[in-house]
Amino acid sequence: MSDKVLVTGGAGFIGSHLCERLLRSGHDVLCVDNYFTGTKRNITHLLNEPLFEVMRHDVTFPLYVEVGRIFNLACPASPVHYQFDPVQTTKTSVHGAINMLGLAKRVKARILQASTSEVYGDPEIHPQPESYWGRVNPVGIRSCYDEGKRCAETLFFDYYRQHQLDIKVIRIFNTYGPRMHPNDGRVVSNFIVQALRGEDITIYGDGTQTRSFCYVDDLVEGMLRMMETEKGFTGPINLGNPGEFTMLELAEKVLALVGSKSKLVHKPLPQDDPRQRQPDITLAKSKLEWAPKVNLDDGLRETVSYFRRTLGL
Ligand SMILES: NC(=O)c1ccc[n+]([C@@H]2O[C@H](COP(=O)([O-])OP(=O)(O)OC[C@H]3O[C@@H](n4cnc5c(N)ncnc54)[C@H](O)[C@@H]3O)[C@@H](O)[C@H]2O)c1
Repeated sequence: MSDKVLVTGGAGFIGSHLCERLLRSGHDVLCVDNYFTGTKRNITHLLNEPLFEVMRHDVTFPLYVEVGRIFNLACPASPVHYQFDPVQTTKTSVHGAINMLGLAKRVKARILQASTSEVYGDPEIHPQPESYWGRVNPVGIRSCYDEGKRCAETLFFDYYRQHQLDIKVIRIFNTYGPRMHPNDGRVVSNFIVQALRGEDITIYGDGTQTRSFCYVDDLVEGMLRMMETEKGFTGPINLGNPGEFTMLELAEKVLALVGSKSKLVHKPLPQDDPRQRQPDITLAKSKLEWAPKVNLDDGLRETVSYFRRTLGL
């Protein structure tokens, strides 16, 4: 990967780790972000790096830069943020994809789309392989994100078929780690912040629904490997950690790590909340020789210490 690399959404949680990894391996990185959910704090430590450049830009508008690789991550990822302005969320996914694909076409760049396990919706198949088409509500409150990401995938594959663009599509499953937004309503940050503040831990439903959690360093490694696969290998490819935990198990782990006496309180399940979500990573294992290495306890420990530091708790 010798060319200049563009990371859209580079000031966000995953994007900032990706920029850091790319810089550490000697790449010239252009980070583009409108700071909707990302923050300059996530990339302050990179600003003095000679090969790092930041541009405030909204991907729903065209962008003209010379790059050889594009990682398209710009999009709010948590329900509280993507439901704040759902029309803008769909625009970010769809117009953002059109603009970044147009850029890739003009400058003949290779482009990777950060898609999501949400394209599987509330799945009837468990775990979900890439061949599963999903079960998504097109008119619900999560649809702006789910359908936006599905349409972005469609655009990527149409640019591939119609214009022979060099595309890669990854489907990211729940990822956690330092620099997650403290108020994004996602379960890992919620539990940690509530435990650190000594507040009640909110469990939606009975807490037996399961999720899998991938540590951000593992995910970034998978993204980099996918970007460097041979031309013509497009994906989609699942990236996530297949280890499955109930919300109650996660809460217990967080309470133990924080040493908190917070109580668990139950609230009704949000609309369209999937009961189970677990990646089938057979393809990533064989094609990328990739599998997550960081176990949940170690990853949570790093994340707890990040939130302790940044929240001063
Ligand atoms: N974190 C996860 O568990 C997860 C799971 C599946 C998919 N993803 C995908 O990975 C990507 C990164 O997610 P994240 O968790 O780092 O979220 P994040 O919200 O921290 O990062 C998204 C970044 O995109 C920026 N952004 C949003 N709209 C933009 C726009 N119109 N123009 C320019 N920048 C814009 C935000 O300011 C932010 O910096 C997203 O595309 C998300 O859908 C994440």
